[in-house]
Amino acid sequence: MKQNKPIIEMKDLAKRYDDDAGVYDALKKVNLTVLEGDFLAIMGPSGSGKSTLMNIIGLLDRPTSGKFILNGVDTETLSSKQLSKLRRDKIGFVFQNFNLLPRLNIMQNVELPLIYKKVKSSERKRKVREVLRQVGLEDKIKSRPNRISGGQVQRVAIARALVNSPSLILADEPTGNLDTKTGIEIMNLLKSLNSQGVTIIVVTHNPEVVHYAKNTVLVRDGLLTEKEVKK
Ligand SMILES: Nc1ncnc2c1ncn2[C@@H]1O[C@H](COP(=O)(O)OP(=O)(O)OP(=O)(O)O)[C@@H](O)[C@H]1O
Ligand SMILES: [Mg+2]
Repeated sequence: MKQNKPIIEMKDLAKRYDDDAGVYDALKKVNLTVLEGDFLAIMGPSGSGKSTLMNIIGLLDRPTSGKFILNGVDTETLSSKQLSKLRRDKIGFVFQNFNLLPRLNIMQNVELPLIYKKVKSSERKRKVREVLRQVGLEDKIKSRPNRISGGQVQRVAIARALVNSPSLILADEPTGNLDTKTGIEIMNLLKSLNSQGVTIIVVTHNPEVVHYAKNTVLVRDGLLTEKEVKK
């Protein structure tokens, strides 16, 4: 079992937004280690810096200072091209503002990352069927996004995150818009992926979601104020 290797190491990491509206220190001196195979919940009040942290973990944004080491690689040394490749190959995103393309059916939406990756058509179809089966949406392959429920949209998001076989899944409020029952379904799905070895990081306001996690950290005013709690 690959268990104890760190997948994420952050050392005195800070993020300052500096634009027309002013300067804002969204993250100040964050120190965090996440081990392979972890299921980490990130909690904290609105505006505390959770999404900022997730964007940095997901290589969508760079820290202003400090270190961010992903899979043993210091991300500061990587070009934006290398970052995109790493993002595409290693990380699956389930973000709330996830938009399915309305003119494409579910199959085509999930297939997109593989088209970017130039995977050949027959292999794409096989893989898309496999992940849609995993999230229980095989029968919706031909449906348009506006013909499926909110929970199903979220499951398509997970399928799209899974299609590249990522080693890390980042989910920012994955149950935010869902009713309790559907939220539980999504969390069970993430849990089952975790038990297959995928590292999961979930941002949530929902204390129920924390029960699915192995560890929890709390972000407050740009600082991690609670150490990882081992259950
Ligand atoms: N692109 C940006 N430019 C300037 N300030 C930003 C930017 N993105 C976020 N911020 C600010 O940084 C702080 C942290 O934002 P962030 O989105 O990380 O919070 P959050 O913890 O995810 O909140 P929520 O729970 O509401 O999603 C907020 O005060 C926000 O206004
Ligand atoms: Mg947020």
